[in-house]
Amino acid sequence: MNATMSLDKTKHHPVMLNQILSIITPQRGGTYIDCTFGGGGYSEAILKFSDTKVIALDRDKLSENRANILLKQFPKRFNFFRDKFSNLNKLVEKKINPQAIIFDLGLSSSQLSDKERGFSFESENFLNMEMGINDYSAYDVINSLNKEHLGTIIKVLGEEKDGKIIANKIDKYRRRKPIKNSKELASIVKDAKKRNNSYKKNPATKTFQAIRIFVNKELTELILGLIEAAKLLSNGGMLIVVSFHSLEDRIVKNFFNFYSNIKINPSRYLPLKENKLSLFKLVSKKALSPTSNEINENVRSRSAKLRYAIRNNNSFINPEEFKKNFQNYFEMESGIIW
Ligand SMILES: C[S@@+](CC[C@H](N)C(=O)[O-])C[C@H]1O[C@@H](n2cnc3c(N)ncnc32)[C@H](O)[C@@H]1O
Repeated sequence: MNATMSLDKTKHHPVMLNQILSIITPQRGGTYIDCTFGGGGYSEAILKFSDTKVIALDRDKLSENRANILLKQFPKRFNFFRDKFSNLNKLVEKKINPQAIIFDLGLSSSQLSDKERGFSFESENFLNMEMGINDYSAYDVINSLNKEHLGTIIKVLGEEKDGKIIANKIDKYRRRKPIKNSKELASIVKDAKKRNNSYKKNPATKTFQAIRIFVNKELTELILGLIEAAKLLSNGGMLIVVSFHSLEDRIVKNFFNFYSNIKINPSRYLPLKENKLSLFKLVSKKALSPTSNEINENVRSRSAKLRYAIRNNNSFINPEEFKKNFQNYFEMESGIIW
């Protein structure tokens, strides 16, 4: 991949782009933050409207190459940071007043199809699974994490009921020789599930999801990213999240419910009185889905869920309270279990 590559050659289908454009109405101009630049699909579409500015982030090196192309095209209206979205407020000025902050979670098509990254079941390259700016790789996790923790991670982060059986199989295998690539890992998982596979997809799908989430601390990142976005948004600013699996969607739904209906106790010396405060107005309780046309054109979009809400001017409060709801994810992804 190099910086001279045209955007079109690597184009993937930006998921639910039309719905996003009709929600954010970039015709009105303003500043937008694209927290997951990826192949640049959203950023590029917004920049086509002349009065807009886009600040984009991505942790992936590959995205930086794409961003350089947009930087040449829109030097005054586009800015890119190669960083994690949990650092949002360290990167941008507090007073930029964004019209919308957008998250499109998960992997880009280029990350998925790049065999060197080890995200696909057939990859025979190094077992990597890193999105970028990581502390460890899938190789480290698969070959050195203790069996019990590995089983829990596969069970919880992959929602894989056979987590323990799979971890036992991995452990048996790695005692003989290290597991070096994704193809090897996929075949070990397939073997572990051979008696118990009612699953239509590849039997290693859930295990791969779990390892990828753990390696990239994806749930911690999402929780912190939402908090950072809520701090930065002000009156009328929108927070839009496209998620792809139930763990992500649960966090997003919980976040919007929590911050559209916060119960506060004005003083710890007074009896608990239910005072309610909200930071967001939920536009719809139900998540939006891609149209059937989009699913036909891009099968990867089929599990997408879009949720969004509009921020008001109330000061941001209670992040620790919200984080407590997901304490188990913080503990699991912290790396303390090594
Ligand atoms: C599904 S892709 C985004 C595609 C993009 N909307 C487009 O239209 O091309 C998700 C991107 O988010 C990035 N990403 C995931 N987690 C991140 C994080 N915590 N911080 C920054 N970028 C992240 C990934 O590296 C990937 O490039």
